[in-house]
Amino acid sequence: MITIQDAIISRKSVRSFTKKQVSNKIIKKILEISSQAPSGSNTQPWNVHVLTGKALKKFTSQAKKEFMSNSENLSLERLNYMKKYREPYISRRRKVGWDLYQILNIKKGDFKKTKNFHAKNYEFFGAPVGLIFSIEKDLGWMSWLDYGMFIQNICLLARNYGLHTCPQAAWGLIYKKVNVLLNLNKNYTVHCGLAIGYENKRSKINTLKTDREKLDNFCKFNYYL
Ligand SMILES: Cc1cc2nc3c(=O)[nH]c(=O)nc-3n(C[C@H](O)[C@H](O)[C@H](O)COP(=O)(O)O)c2cc1C
Repeated sequence: MITIQDAIISRKSVRSFTKKQVSNKIIKKILEISSQAPSGSNTQPWNVHVLTGKALKKFTSQAKKEFMSNSENLSLERLNYMKKYREPYISRRRKVGWDLYQILNIKKGDFKKTKNFHAKNYEFFGAPVGLIFSIEKDLGWMSWLDYGMFIQNICLLARNYGLHTCPQAAWGLIYKKVNVLLNLNKNYTVHCGLAIGYENKRSKINTLKTDREKLDNFCKFNYYL
């Protein structure tokens, strides 16, 4: 059993997985325990599609096709964290992007390589399990916040089973198509996705190390006001 601290420290976004399958029993356990996440008024806004085996193959081939053939027309509404990026967010975003592209040897302006890399999102980076999260459309931002707590539980609990994850906002780019592929009830919409599997330790992409701000830069201790 891993400690919570070790789970938090060892979690990272993994973008290349081995072919080793994950048992359904483990996936069920992770999801069941993760639903212990807190949510405002215990509303539990999560709704998960688990994709494995043939269903995963069929789904990812259709999703990737949508991204590759239609990417110019896709709306960025879900992926734009802010209308116009400003500091400090723009520098942080650029840093992780350039670090990743350096590892992948993608040069600035190489749109073809960049697109091919982005397309791997729609194969869940080769993971044997893909999760797609959806939410009822009329739930507000508090419910989206609750959802994050649930997803973080999954990321941390995965570590207890030697698994790694990658949360994926990328699914928000093709959410209209995914709503159809998963035959979602019209009150629901795709929120985001998550890849789960065993890390491919031979892949360079998984050597990416991301920075964090120092505590004093994001935290003020108010002993007296
Ligand atoms: C809500 C959310 C959405 C994300 N979407 C993607 C994504 O679509 N594709 C991807 O490769 N990484 C995605 N990431 C991973 C982030 O890039 C990653 O968490 C961040 O760079 C910090 O690195 P770390 O997770 O390895 O600590 C996402 C992370 C979060 C929390």
